[in-house]
Amino acid sequence: MALLDIQKVSMHFGGLKAIRELDFAVQQGEIRGLIGPNGAGKTTLFNVISGIYLPTRGRFFFQGQDITRLRPHGTAKLGIIRTFQAITLFKHFSVLRNVMVGCHLHSHYSFFGSLLGTPNSLRHERENEARSMEILEFMGLARYKDELAMNLPHGHQRALGISIALAGQPSLLMLDEPVTGMNPEESAAMMKLIQKIRDRGITILLIEHDMKVVMGICERITVLNFGEKIAEGTPEEIRKDPDVHEAYLGGEHYVA
Ligand SMILES: Nc1ncnc2c1ncn2[C@@H]1O[C@H](COP(=O)(O)OP(=O)(O)OP(=O)(O)O)[C@@H](O)[C@H]1O
Ligand SMILES: [Mg+2]
Repeated sequence: MALLDIQKVSMHFGGLKAIRELDFAVQQGEIRGLIGPNGAGKTTLFNVISGIYLPTRGRFFFQGQDITRLRPHGTAKLGIIRTFQAITLFKHFSVLRNVMVGCHLHSHYSFFGSLLGTPNSLRHERENEARSMEILEFMGLARYKDELAMNLPHGHQRALGISIALAGQPSLLMLDEPVTGMNPEESAAMMKLIQKIRDRGITILLIEHDMKVVMGICERITVLNFGEKIAEGTPEEIRKDPDVHEAYLGGEHYVA
């Protein structure tokens, strides 16, 4: 059984068909690339899967469960966690505090408890802090824990965004253009991190325009164009696919 199984999903915005009858399945443990020219529907698909938009038609399943109508907090509780194309951090919070906010998604203690500082909530806060530090160490950000998020260099801000996502305990992590704006060294470091995350058993769905990254770490790639799947296969197959070349013709991104 596929981890994520999308069946004939369409997403229309008025007359605009952002996704058209899309069939698409992600297997447990893979790093799957999702590519396509600007406006192809990639981010819209993340928005549909995570429950921000209700699809116009079709259904999709996670671990066999129909999650078509779940809202974002429902999909997050199941372990479907995504990052955003634009960086979304609490800029005036410390790096550590940012990750601790991410932990609260799974916290069973009340917000008021934490304000009142009840013994349970204090213990829970300490557990969150320890877990957040582990994530920062894993992501190579531990030494910046007390910095304000806004003072981090761009590459580290992106890594912090992923750290916050990890705090939500994903089983499926959906990354929307994680290396955008990175220099080649930062981008190579991010590729290693994404592989390390997968090696911990977290399935990755990756939107990325940087073909070096996509071809370098994805086992399989799905290509969207105008909301439709036009190709799917290994990096080698995608590289050779004439429909993919056609879709990107004149585009600046495709340099495989
Ligand atoms: N909320 C919305 N309302 C109306 N149209 C939308 C909405 N969200 C997305 N669209 C449209 O849907 C189409 C697909 O957009 P989407 O953001 O999914 O593309 P993308 O593949 O992520 O592109 P990019 O690579 O530029 O990020 C675009 O034409 C976009 O303008
Ligand atoms: Mg997008």
